Formats: sequence, structure tokens, C-alpha cells
Amino acid sequence: MTQFPDGFLWGAATSAYQIEGSSLADGAGESNWLRFSHTRGRTKNGETGDIACDHYRRTPEDVERMRWLGLNAYRFSIAWSRVLPEGRKQVNAKGLAFYDRLVDLLLAAGIEPCVTLFHWDLPAALDDLGGWLNPDSAGWFADYAQVVFRKLGDRVPRWVTLNEPWVVTDAGFLHGVHAPGHASPYEAPRASHNLLRAHVAAVQAYRAMGRREIGIVVNLEPKYAASDSEQDLAAARRADAYMNRQYLDALFFGRYPEEMSEIFGAAWPEHDPASLASLREPIDFLGINYYSRSVVAHDDDGGLLRTRNIRQPHAIHTELGWEVHPESLTRLLLWAKERYGGLPLYICENGAAFYDPPVAIDGRVDDPLRVDYYRRHLLAAHAAIQQGVDLRGYFAWSLFDNYEWAEGYSRRFGLFHVDFETQVRTPKASAEYFKRVIESRGATL
Ligand code: FCB
Repeated sequence: MTQFPDGFLWGAATSAYQIEGSSLADGAGESNWLRFSHTRGRTKNGETGDIACDHYRRTPEDVERMRWLGLNAYRFSIAWSRVLPEGRKQVNAKGLAFYDRLVDLLLAAGIEPCVTLFHWDLPAALDDLGGWLNPDSAGWFADYAQVVFRKLGDRVPRWVTLNEPWVVTDAGFLHGVHAPGHASPYEAPRASHNLLRAHVAAVQAYRAMGRREIGIVVNLEPKYAASDSEQDLAAARRADAYMNRQYLDALFFGRYPEEMSEIFGAAWPEHDPASLASLREPIDFLGINYYSRSVVAHDDDGGLLRTRNIRQPHAIHTELGWEVHPESLTRLLLWAKERYGGLPLYICENGAAFYDPPVAIDGRVDDPLRVDYYRRHLLAAHAAIQQGVDLRGYFAWSLFDNYEWAEGYSRRFGLFHVDFETQVRTPKASAEYFKRVIESRGATL
């Protein structure tokens, strides 16, 4: 029987810049993603989040869709530049009011809001001051967080400080493929450290005023060595340290993995012990985003990590080239429990971009590969619970087809198909499937 525990959260996730549109409405300031996407050559076909899913103007009907799905939780993020157009100081009441209404709509629909404070869109005015490279960024973030806690804290039971600091720094500061578009091995680890300091500062601010739960969301990807050779095993350890342990070891043990200085060489910063120790601020839960695994071989030409990913010839891959490997989700959850202790875990994102056919004449969108993906990953999550993991919820990525960052609108992850010309939303077969699974609390998996 695959019934999930009572109180399990059945959710879907989105983020502000990916769905809202109306980026500058009602006094909002520019974000670094607005700027980045408007810079020639940065995103596929020059696509931007200017309109996205137009969710900013369609919130009530979108909440109705969540209710139809049977969700009892919804994870969304707040656009910092709506709340504080300059990133600091002056609060924009209208921006805050948008999220206030959203929270009330959700609660009225019986859906728990789970709020992410930072899902990659930083106010452009703060970017001008160095963004996450500026050591003051931790204080800016805590001040912003307090404004939001004060407004919504009475009704939001669960808070996420940061979404995926690894992607922010790997894509934004090391490879330059996300905002702010820098490519510097010197900057990446410094930005990472400031992100973690910012997370801690927001948790501390929450402790001073909030009464419920706060945590962080990291994206994790088990790394397997391509062979038993000592070189490949070491390559897999480097990849694992860089992506999986860099953030969590710092937060739970107050140290970075020893592989980090080997990876970054002279670019790796000396951290003072007090600053490292201060990262060990207790959190109430850990959010994990899981999409795929990788198989890693040693390669001297493989960038800083000196690794190469080996594509598995017989596996199914999504449109983004990510291998479908549900067993790794079970393994990952067990690993997190084992290594970081038994704190509550949430799967805060899991899902797949596949090519979807256009909406058929009878209104159906058949997405059997996505149905299969959800089914197998939910089974894998259930297996972890049976093996003792304290998994409290599962959020599908994503509620809607949306703006997939530098990939623009070309990658569809939605339970709802979105026609970006007309903004018509159509539930895919995966939405019908997920609805049935939720109704049965997993029994019909
Ligand atoms: C995650 C992001 C999310 C989305 C999915 C596909 O890394 O958190 O915004 O882009 O990947």
C-alpha cells in the first residue's frame, strides 16, 4: 500500500519571475533577471519574463486551479523588487499587498502557503552594489525578510530563505549563464558564502519574531563514479562536494568540504573560523529539489572540477538532457537523513520537461512520460518514508508551463499547459493523474 502519512503536504511549486509577468507593475523596481533577460544574447530567442504566465493579473483563477487539483500546499516566491523597489529602505505597499491577497486566497481555498524569500530575482539596485558579492548583502536580505515576516508571518506557516544557492553561484557567478552573468572562479565561492550568511541572518530575524517553521531549499544530485578507478572515484567525490555538500556541510557542520580548495585552487577564499561557525544556525526543515543524478568520470579538461558527465545510453532523458533516475531520490533522502540528522524533509521541487503535443481538439494534452516520471518519483519518495525518512511533503515542479530562465519558454514543466499567446491553461494528463493521487493520498499511485 502506498498511502502517505496523515498531514503530508501535497503541493506544487512556482517562482515569481517565472510566472508573474507585470514585472514593473504597481511601483515594482527592476530585478537583475529583468535586466539579464533584456540583454541581447542572454536567453533563448531573447525571451523575458515580462508576461510569463500573467499570473500577477490572474491570481484568483489560478488559485481555483490549485483547489481543483486538490493541493493542500503551494510553494511560491516573492519578488524582492516588488516589496522593496530599490532592494532596501522604501517599502512598496502595493507590491506587498499582492502577496497579502495571494496568501488570503490560498488560505480561503484550504491551501497552505509555503513562501520562498529568494528564488533568484535580486533587485537590480542591489546588483549595482555588487549583489551577493557585497558582504552587506546578508543584512539587506534580513531587512527585506523582516518586512515580509511582519506582513505575512501571522498566516504563513512555512518559510524558505533561499532557493538553490548552488545554481545562483554556479550558473550566475561561475558560468555566467544566469543573472548576474558573471564568470569568475574567484567570485563564485564568495557569493556562496554571502548567500549562506544571508540565509542565517534571515533565520535569526525569524526567530526573533516568527513562531513557525523556516528552512532552506537546496538542489541535490547523487554523483556516481563512472568506474571503480581511483581517479573516477575521486572525481565523483569532487562533484558531490561541489554540488551537494558545499552548502549543507557549511550549514550543519560549520565547514566546507575539504575538496573545495582542491577544486578552486588559488581562487578558494580563506574563511575565518568565526564566520564559518556562525553558519550552524538550526533550521526547522530541509527542502530538497531533486531532478536527476549524474555519472562522473575524471577528465583533466573538464573545467575546475576536472570531471565529465557520462550519459547513460539506455536511460530516458528529459528535454533538458537530465537522466530519469527515481532510485536516486530514495538514496538521496536516506543520505540526507543519515548525514545531517533526522530533521523533517520536504521535496520542494521534482518534475520533468518533456516535449508535449499541442492541446488536442478534445482539449486533452497527453503527457505520458511526465505521468510516468511523477509516478516513479512518488514511489521512490514513499520507499524512503518506509525506510524511516521523515518526509513531510512533496511539491511538483511546476504548476504551470513557465519561463524556464535562460531556456525561455521552450521547456515545459507544467501540470497545466499554458498557451503563451492566449494565456489559456489546460490541465495535462499529468494534472489529472496528480489529482487522483492526492485524492487517494497516494493509494492510487
Ligand atoms: C530548478 C529551479 C526552478 C526551475 C527548475 C526546472 O533548479 O529552482 O526554478 O528552473 O529547476
